[in-house]
Amino acid sequence: MRIFSGIQPTGRKHLGNFIGAIRQYVDGQARAVEADGLAIFCIVDLHAVTVAYDPVELRELTYDTAALLIAAGLDPARCILFRQSDVAEQTELCWLLASVTAHGDLNRMHQFKEKSEVQRELISAGLFFYPVLQAADVLAYRCDEVPVGEDQRQHIELMRDIAERFNARFADSNELLIAPQHRIPEVGARIMDLQDPDSKMSTTAAAQDGTVYVLDQPEMIQRKFNRAVTDSDDPPRIAVDPQKRGVSNLLEILAACEGVTPEEAAAELSGARGYGDLKAAVSEAVIEMLTPVRERYELLRGDEAALEQVLLRGADQARAIAAVTLGEVRSAMGVGPVT
Ligand code: TYM
Repeated sequence: MRIFSGIQPTGRKHLGNFIGAIRQYVDGQARAVEADGLAIFCIVDLHAVTVAYDPVELRELTYDTAALLIAAGLDPARCILFRQSDVAEQTELCWLLASVTAHGDLNRMHQFKEKSEVQRELISAGLFFYPVLQAADVLAYRCDEVPVGEDQRQHIELMRDIAERFNARFADSNELLIAPQHRIPEVGARIMDLQDPDSKMSTTAAAQDGTVYVLDQPEMIQRKFNRAVTDSDDPPRIAVDPQKRGVSNLLEILAACEGVTPEEAAAELSGARGYGDLKAAVSEAVIEMLTPVRERYELLRGDEAALEQVLLRGADQARAIAAVTLGEVRSAMGVGPVT
């Protein structure tokens, strides 16, 4: 069993990233160790350059993200943790896979549409090509499983199509590239903005109070939940209901923290007097979940040399795997000398 996932070093990581993805990485690492498999996690700095960014900040954010992932429970002795740009094999594979990627499919990607709409200056070709690099990231490692949040479903489906099209066109079997499965959590796959529960939680949200960051101090987390949008039902009704977007989102977060279903989380609050009790319960659960991560992060982040060493070692391990796949792809495509 082999697991791969990637995370961007853009902005600070938020509760949606943590619940939807990072926690599943840690779980994936444990399952991979147990099954004698491999779990591989990549900080995708080359994806981050597809929108406006600051080059000095990008390096800082890469270390921030590495420290955060380790603080959350990734252990470089039990998984491979590396920086995308250190493994050039992935970028070359991206180009080769472009030959079996349909332009029309890239045009249909929701993330491209959403991100290109908010670009004020250049809409880069890199933004359009983003899903091909993402496909190369995963396919280079021939993995079976990709833990992600709901917003990545379409990108995973595209990489499955790319793998299948590549095998049909260039390989004798359907095993040269492996079409992976996504692993999207049942609870918490799409955490919504606390101020605007119709939009997913993100770093680019209009209202800062709508996004809880993994590194927020407890008082800040409490404040953001206190101000979370609910509704004006009178009497207040704590229930999972598509009409009650704010309340349902709070229940989803509470359920994800407690490892129960949102309906069970609602049932636990049957004696609550109002939305204040719900907000207090969620904020307490989130603070309990994130505090140890923030504390470990603070210990780790200062030692950039140690973080750099982890990433370089991870890149060596990753390259050894990606180079084999790339060699077979080149050979199947007739690229380069006979090997
Ligand atoms: P990124 O860095 O934007 O997001 C990292 C992970 O967080 C999940 N996520 C959420 N989950 C629940 N609720 C939310 N509000 C929320 N917002 C984000 C994302 O689904 C993601 O799993 N394209 C990827 C990076 C990538 C990648 C890969 C992923 C590059 N190569 C290969 C998997 C495999 C991304 O945008 O990550």
